Amino acid sequence: MESKKKTAVITGATSGLGLAYAERMAADGYDLIITGRREEMIKANAERIMHEYGRSVEVCITDLSDEEGVNKLIDILNNKNISILVNNAGFGLKTKFIDTNYCDVERLLYLHIMAVTKLTYFVLQGMKKRNKGTIINISSDGAFAVMPKNVVYSSSKLYIINFTEGLHMELADYNITVQAVCPGFIDSDFHERAGMSVDKTRKGIFRFYQPRDIVENAMKALKKDDVVCIPDKGGKVIKLIGKYMPRKIFYNFAAEFANNTIKKRK
Ligand SMILES: NC(=O)c1ccc[n+]([C@@H]2O[C@H](COP(=O)([O-])OP(=O)(O)OC[C@H]3O[C@@H](n4cnc5c(N)ncnc54)[C@H](OP(=O)(O)O)[C@@H]3O)[C@@H](O)[C@H]2O)c1
Repeated sequence: MESKKKTAVITGATSGLGLAYAERMAADGYDLIITGRREEMIKANAERIMHEYGRSVEVCITDLSDEEGVNKLIDILNNKNISILVNNAGFGLKTKFIDTNYCDVERLLYLHIMAVTKLTYFVLQGMKKRNKGTIINISSDGAFAVMPKNVVYSSSKLYIINFTEGLHMELADYNITVQAVCPGFIDSDFHERAGMSVDKTRKGIFRFYQPRDIVENAMKALKKDDVVCIPDKGGKVIKLIGKYMPRKIFYNFAAEFANNTIKKRK
């Protein structure tokens, strides 16, 4: 008989979107395996979620920006039936590519591309056997419209969309659902940690959204089988601009937008 126990894995559940996914999955009856590097914070999250939702929460303290860190998580996932994987962990960079420390470029690419790909490959093997599963990959509206000082980040997030859409087509026979979520601005630790100065009280289309609202919209879209979900208005507008604005006009618009909305701290 199939076990009733359902387990969701969420990478980067220390703060922001990953924490909101963890809470949502726990509320939906999943036991959790969550990852992060800020040990005290993530353990406090785990305690609170266990207490509030009565689910078991296992914490994996690991840096997923290299192979060793990803393998540490895979060792924990070994022999467990994973129902949902949320590839959420990510970070931004604040400088032009030419001025960025190359180690940071490699770490970002490993986290956003290699870790997402390897974790997906690993959990898919079990999902294929059980003919069931869900993989949610967090991309960004930056994938639709690259901006200066955002080049490697945007490029990596575009990979995530392409990867997810390709999997969607390949997995049609396996009852495995995949979704790429492409949010606009989220009120999380993301910008501060990247050294960006932003106005989170900003109103209008490009306002900041609460992580739980993004999760709520993305989960609604998942139920409707939306493979690429843009969960907020800002992201939808950015997609249209990136697609339809003539490129020469777009380059100037994007440079202006980057200067006005995201100031990089010195
Ligand atoms: N904030 C936005 O405006 C925005 C917009 C679009 C997309 N996104 C995407 O949303 C996702 C979540 O970001 P967020 O906004 O919620 O930011 P956040 O609050 O900074 O959360 C990022 C999470 O990723 C984890 N993480 C970062 N680097 C890691 C590493 N090397 N190894 C393991 N874990 C790592 C962090 O945990 P530790 O620091 O504890 O390791 C944290 O739990 C990211 O993929 C981001 O690209 C964000």
